[in-house]
Amino acid sequence: MTRITVVGGTGYAGSAIVAEAARRGHEVVSVSRNAPAEEARVEGVRYETGSLVDADTRARAVADAEVVVSSLSPRGELDGRIVEVDRELAALAEQHGARFVVVGGYSSLRLEEGGPRQAETGQLPPEFASEALQMNEVLGGLLASSDELDFTFVSPALQFGSYAPGEALGRYRVGGEVAFTDDAGVSAVSGADFATAIVDEIETPAHRREHISVAY
Ligand SMILES: NC(=O)c1ccc[n+]([C@@H]2O[C@H](COP(=O)([O-])OP(=O)(O)OC[C@H]3O[C@@H](n4cnc5c(N)ncnc54)[C@H](OP(=O)(O)O)[C@@H]3O)[C@@H](O)[C@H]2O)c1
Repeated sequence: MTRITVVGGTGYAGSAIVAEAARRGHEVVSVSRNAPAEEARVEGVRYETGSLVDADTRARAVADAEVVVSSLSPRGELDGRIVEVDRELAALAEQHGARFVVVGGYSSLRLEEGGPRQAETGQLPPEFASEALQMNEVLGGLLASSDELDFTFVSPALQFGSYAPGEALGRYRVGGEVAFTDDAGVSAVSGADFATAIVDEIETPAHRREHISVAY
């Protein structure tokens, strides 16, 4: 049993991770500004509320955790602040000796070995560019961090998100920082299978201080 705090544990990625971790018997805390509706609560999960923009909430989120998962998105209040918030959470995780796992974006992946990260090509659709650049900056900060910080930054497949929740197929593949596809050339993963990959990585750490990707 591991004490896991998921910041953004009521969002698309976060709620799937919270559900999978609780199902496997971990002690799970979710932190977000709003408590979820009764029917969206996962049994056994402790839902705490507060804004991660506040230092007190960040301190509370990390204090008792062995693993902190950040599945915040650079939207709304966090648009323009995610880099700072994830940097502060990482610093706290390092101080407490907790592991820090960040759910990032597909566009931090390289489309070919030795090529640029997609977010760095200047060729992103305008509707994704800001989010992609901010999450890529979070990744840059982690890659440049002190060796003491135990982080893993996880990029999901291209087809991932609340618009395409998919089904639990019970399988996934883990790659590095170069994007990969299935045999049909599709880059996709459901929320449930992505969450399984995250909890597997928490239970069996295999990618310390690495940028990895999860897709079918
Ligand atoms: N294909 C892709 O590459 C892809 C697709 C989708 C998402 N992503 C990435 O996955 C990550 C998670 O995205 P998502 O879509 O799962 O996010 P989401 O559904 O928007 O969830 C965001 C979560 O953060 C919480 N939150 C927002 N502002 C907060 C604040 N100030 N303080 C505390 N909690 C706050 C929200 O709850 P409250 O509003 O109640 O606070 C919610 O729990 C992001 O890095 C995103 O870029 C990647």
